[in-house]
Amino acid sequence: MTTVTLQNLRKEFGDVVAVKGIDLEIEDGEFLVIVGPSGCGKSTTLRLLAGLEATTGGRIEMDERDVTGVEPKDRNVAMVFQNYALYPHMTGRRNITFGMKSSGDFTDEEIERRVEDAAETLDIVDLLDRKPEAMSGGERQRVALGRAIVRDPDAFLMDEPLSNLDAKLRIQMRAELARLHSALETTTVYVTHDQTEAMTLGERVVVMNDGQIMQVDEPQALYDFPANRFVAEFIGDPAMNMIPVDIEDGRAVHDAFTLPLPSVDEPASTDRNGAGDAPLGDTQRAVLGIRPEDFHLPDARSDDGLPRIDAEVNVREPLGDSLLLHCSIGATSCNIQAAPRTAVRAGETVSVTYDPARLHLFDAETGDAFYHSESHHSTDEQVLSRASK
Ligand SMILES: Nc1ncnc2c1ncn2[C@@H]1O[C@H](COP(=O)(O)OP(=O)(O)OP(=O)(O)O)[C@@H](O)[C@H]1O
Ligand SMILES: [Mg+2]
Repeated sequence: MTTVTLQNLRKEFGDVVAVKGIDLEIEDGEFLVIVGPSGCGKSTTLRLLAGLEATTGGRIEMDERDVTGVEPKDRNVAMVFQNYALYPHMTGRRNITFGMKSSGDFTDEEIERRVEDAAETLDIVDLLDRKPEAMSGGERQRVALGRAIVRDPDAFLMDEPLSNLDAKLRIQMRAELARLHSALETTTVYVTHDQTEAMTLGERVVVMNDGQIMQVDEPQALYDFPANRFVAEFIGDPAMNMIPVDIEDGRAVHDAFTLPLPSVDEPASTDRNGAGDAPLGDTQRAVLGIRPEDFHLPDARSDDGLPRIDAEVNVREPLGDSLLLHCSIGATSCNIQAAPRTAVRAGETVSVTYDPARLHLFDAETGDAFYHSESHHSTDEQVLSRASK
């Protein structure tokens, strides 16, 4: 049972401030993913948690115990790294048990029992007597996980553990990790720069940028209700289109179109990232966010009452399961995702509509979201089901 709390956590390396005072509450048994671009401070945060770096400021608690200055070995956490860090001259078994014997914390029988259990769980019984050179990348990573599991730590800290694996194996190991977590229910903090990995693995996801936390939420909520432009553009692939507009009388006005903004008056939306009850009456500059998949090429005869927007197709990219159109809407570049095999050529102008429930508005200066046309939390059910567990 381990909750982890970070309070105003800060790390400086000389002039570089890698972590700029972050607050975070990690629940007992939670699988929390930290995602963000290269250099944003993910690994540093994890290393502070492990005690491998000393903090410059702030506090780390595990189960309400202040561990800020505590040695790594006294924190009972297990790290798993990208480069497995297995000893090449030792067998899988020795790699897994290395350090356990000398620590004196475990009897030989206890070590043996734990290795057998972990090997069973990870399906690596056959690898125990092999050296790393005779294992594939995925097998090595399993052994590295085994080394973490046998310690029965209070928390797993994983830093891009799958990024050395090829795409297919990564997907397979992702499922393994999810299965492992539901079996062990150990608090896990998992760092990645891959948003797909973050979305598929995380029960909650922390989006970091430039040493700061941009948003913490469940994966679907990050996609549906991004708190700011950074999250909106980071989560989702291809990225959300950002279209400069003026807001006038509850409408978004662009050189090439005017579209109505459905009114959002349910109080439920106000607690979602502060966006909601937006003062859409006042004229102001803003950035309208529409995801490529929320544009549609309607049937010419369909009458959905929505305004049509003219988009000139510059480049068409067939992706197999969809067709990505790089377009110009007036002077703004936009990506539009169409059905595969849609008969559209570069140079043509298409007339598109959009999903009115999937509009986002961001402050032109700060980039903070102040309006999502979808007012309901799509994650309500998940939250309830978790709360009732
Ligand atoms: N030991 C160090 N000395 C000086 N600067 C460091 C040190 N470790 C990290 N940094 C700097 O701190 C910042 C955050 O680094 P960090 O390794 O935490 O990023 P990251 O989010 O893990 O990136 P990546 O996705 O590339 O692994 C970077 O600017 C990095 O250059
Ligand atoms: Mg890193």
